[in-house]
Amino acid sequence: RHTTRSHYQRMKEIKVGLLGLGTVGSGVFEVLKNNADEISRRSGCRIRVTRVVSRGLDAVRKMVGPDIAISEDPFDIVNDPAIDVLVEVMGGTTVARDVVLAAIAKGKQVVTANKALLAVHGNEIFAKAREQGVMVAFEAAVAGGIPIVKALREGLAANRIDMLAGIINGTTNFILSEMRDKGLSFDAALADAQRLGYAEADPTFDIEGIDAAHKATLLASIAFGVPVQFDGAYIEGISKLAAEDFTYADQLGYRIKLLGIARRRAEGIELRVHPTLIPARRLLANVEGAMNAVWVKGDAVGETLYYGPGAGKLPTASAVVADLVDVARQIEVAPESRVPYLAFQQDQLQQVPVLPASEMETAYYLRIPVRDEPGVLADITRIMADEGVSIDAMLQRQPSEGANTTDIILMTHRTVEKCIDIASRRIEALPSVTAAPVRLR
Ligand code: NDP
Ligand code: HSE
Repeated sequence: RHTTRSHYQRMKEIKVGLLGLGTVGSGVFEVLKNNADEISRRSGCRIRVTRVVSRGLDAVRKMVGPDIAISEDPFDIVNDPAIDVLVEVMGGTTVARDVVLAAIAKGKQVVTANKALLAVHGNEIFAKAREQGVMVAFEAAVAGGIPIVKALREGLAANRIDMLAGIINGTTNFILSEMRDKGLSFDAALADAQRLGYAEADPTFDIEGIDAAHKATLLASIAFGVPVQFDGAYIEGISKLAAEDFTYADQLGYRIKLLGIARRRAEGIELRVHPTLIPARRLLANVEGAMNAVWVKGDAVGETLYYGPGAGKLPTASAVVADLVDVARQIEVAPESRVPYLAFQQDQLQQVPVLPASEMETAYYLRIPVRDEPGVLADITRIMADEGVSIDAMLQRQPSEGANTTDIILMTHRTVEKCIDIASRRIEALPSVTAAPVRLR
């Protein structure tokens, strides 16, 4: 039997205050409106936006119509006693923190897409939310429309997870793809990413790897059951990548992607974001544009891969609205019976430290600019042997016509970052080496 209109009218209503009506906020509004009936059939209630706070009230009114309260002060949502859920899609870590904490203090549920907020202030926010018995849902904060938070927190709950790695920033993946496939300049590709609503308000967060580190921080917490530790993350973005490294990587059978990586070792956790050479045959190497993908290895399930749109209006709104459905379903469930914020019971989080960058273990690509002189390769390989770094592959091009400089490319086996640090310094000091070696992982 079809559900009747009167049935919907009798349904419980969840009232939402929407903070931010930009790319994501407008998407949330649209999805809630367009899919209202499907969403009610799933959640068992009507989810209705009753107040919107954003800047530029004329445009806001035009978008939301005449029946919704609108204003510009974020605390208007906190102070509206009728509102059950704050949806924070405004961004930032100052006003957003204050508003979210104030909403929690008033017993409101919170849904946020704000990874910066949770990576930096998550421990405080989850602790306060626990005290108040309210939910803080954040599916949209990691990998846009991919339900990776749900997959880690619920679908993989049986596993011990020791490693995950992902393309978790749509903007940088889009830029790398557009530069490679269409020959666009960095600036033109970034401008397109901004126009399409993928980039952060400050795009250096994307380009310098900070946004991916926020997300990797959250993934590490829910994969390993540790507090959020953004301060410990090693972060390197894509702004310093040189055209020749893409060419050499290609010749060696690799693609360069910005990866967020979290790995559990006996001594601590590796938490890092950096451009990474991935063998071209791997699925991750073929994730293009604003698509994201997260590879997770669990001891029971083995290797799994989650793929989908990582940024943009409707994909992100899909995740925010899914959180709203979860909140609606669980609002009457006792707080201690709900899925824990960080996947593990709050009092079972382990204080495992993030390892310093010098302790990272991985394989390396070194591009060493040299004068084409006898003995230079022997000097370099001797230093690598001295420092215990084993070489996996090597590439040396003839100098171009009229030049006597060229690049030596070394690919190493797995080693420890500090050994590469020492070897690089010694190589740079060789008389035939013309500049510091370029290092990729
Ligand atoms: P936008 O800049 O498009 O939207 C933010 C909205 O909030 C804007 O309308 C902005 O107004 C308003 N706003 C900002 N500060 C205030 C304030 N102090 N008072 C009132 N209104 C304010 O950002 P997005 O929608 O792209 O992103 C929102 C959040 O979602 C961020 O945390 C982002 O990291 C996250 N996110 C974004 C994704 C995406 O693909 N875009 C994907 C996943 C998460 P104004 O325009 O005047 O600044
Ligand atoms: N700026 C982010 C990105 C938005 O490009 O991935 C999605 O979190």
